[in-house]
Amino acid sequence: MKNTLLLFTLLTLAVSSHAQKFEGLAQTPPMGWNSWNKFACNIDETIIRGIADRMVETGLRDAGYVYINLDDCWHGQRDSLGFITADPVKFPSGIKALSDYVHSKGLKLGIYSDAGRTTCGGRPGSFGHEYQDAITYARWGIDYLKYDWCATDNINPVGAYQLMRDALRAAGRPILFSMCEWGHSKPWIWAKETGHLWRTTGDIYNCFDCVDDHGSWKAFGVMQILDMQEGLRQYAGPGHWNDPDMLEVGNGMAVNQDRAHFSMWCMLAAPLILGNDIRNMSQETKDILMNKDVIAVNQDVLGIQGLKAEAKNGVEVWFKPLVNGDWACCILNRNKEAVNYDLIWQRFNLDDEVSGRSTEFYKIIYTVQNLWTKKPEGTTAKNLRLSIPAQDVVMVRLSPKVKK
Ligand code: GLA
Repeated sequence: MKNTLLLFTLLTLAVSSHAQKFEGLAQTPPMGWNSWNKFACNIDETIIRGIADRMVETGLRDAGYVYINLDDCWHGQRDSLGFITADPVKFPSGIKALSDYVHSKGLKLGIYSDAGRTTCGGRPGSFGHEYQDAITYARWGIDYLKYDWCATDNINPVGAYQLMRDALRAAGRPILFSMCEWGHSKPWIWAKETGHLWRTTGDIYNCFDCVDDHGSWKAFGVMQILDMQEGLRQYAGPGHWNDPDMLEVGNGMAVNQDRAHFSMWCMLAAPLILGNDIRNMSQETKDILMNKDVIAVNQDVLGIQGLKAEAKNGVEVWFKPLVNGDWACCILNRNKEAVNYDLIWQRFNLDDEVSGRSTEFYKIIYTVQNLWTKKPEGTTAKNLRLSIPAQDVVMVRLSPKVKK
């Protein structure tokens, strides 16, 4: 009896010492806004409050964008006991007051730190302060943590991210854990139980098809990042997403490029984290970010990342399985000229091993709804004749109509 009790106690201890990430926080890809792509280190509480206000006034919050995420450079120093503080000049009211404000608007607040000694912007990192920082974030009412990977020489990524996951768990407040390790150690293979999303690449920047070489590191355009997602789709699903980095929509690319970028991120079931100044955005930017039919493809409850079915002469045909037997189909023209493309459905009788779904165009006729023009495009009984502008997409939703 004594032995059984001892064994039971040991087993319980063993189970409870293995902390879990908080479940249920990202059943669909998270949606929100982050300060980095537009503001870099130039953030302060006035900007962030203004962003929160506009998130509500523009309808973005009601379209699903609920996280307001501070990126790098919100930090001040650590206090004499090692607790992190906010920059007293940029955030004089403190993060708790900001969090109360953001919550009062029906939004959530995210924060940023780094597994190393400093952040990428040279602010204090969480190394050696993981539990302290997790408690601080929980006390401030933080809902989302982006955890970066600068200044991590000789640190093991698996251990470092598990440590922060365990610290967040111990602090008790459900905080979504966004891992920003740039894909170096292939986190998609080991991080399902650790984080809710993991960056798959280095940083994005606002160019459609280019690489920005900084010598020791590179930033990548939208097409480069898209190509780096190859082979990763089987690792994504509800609660654990591939993160191809935040959106650059509204940051200077042409409208067609922005539309293609947004559409592809939706096909990839990527987190939709806005990176533009939503206080001043054009109607065109707003129309892209708030297209509810395209967002619905991203937020589909099945959480299956899309697949590239064909790539030829700069034209790619992507499919994404959706609920109720539906599919999204996105035809991407990467060329700098418009192209005509005939979509012959019968060439895409796919058997998707990841989802177990098949398009079965030989058996099922689908209605075709254009998600950008909002026009019905007939059914899959007829081929779709398309003219796709340069660096743009045609995106449609297929819904089963009749089974032959
Ligand atoms: C890294 C990250 C970026 C951003 C910056 C901040 O480069 O990948 O997304 O957070 O750091 O310094």
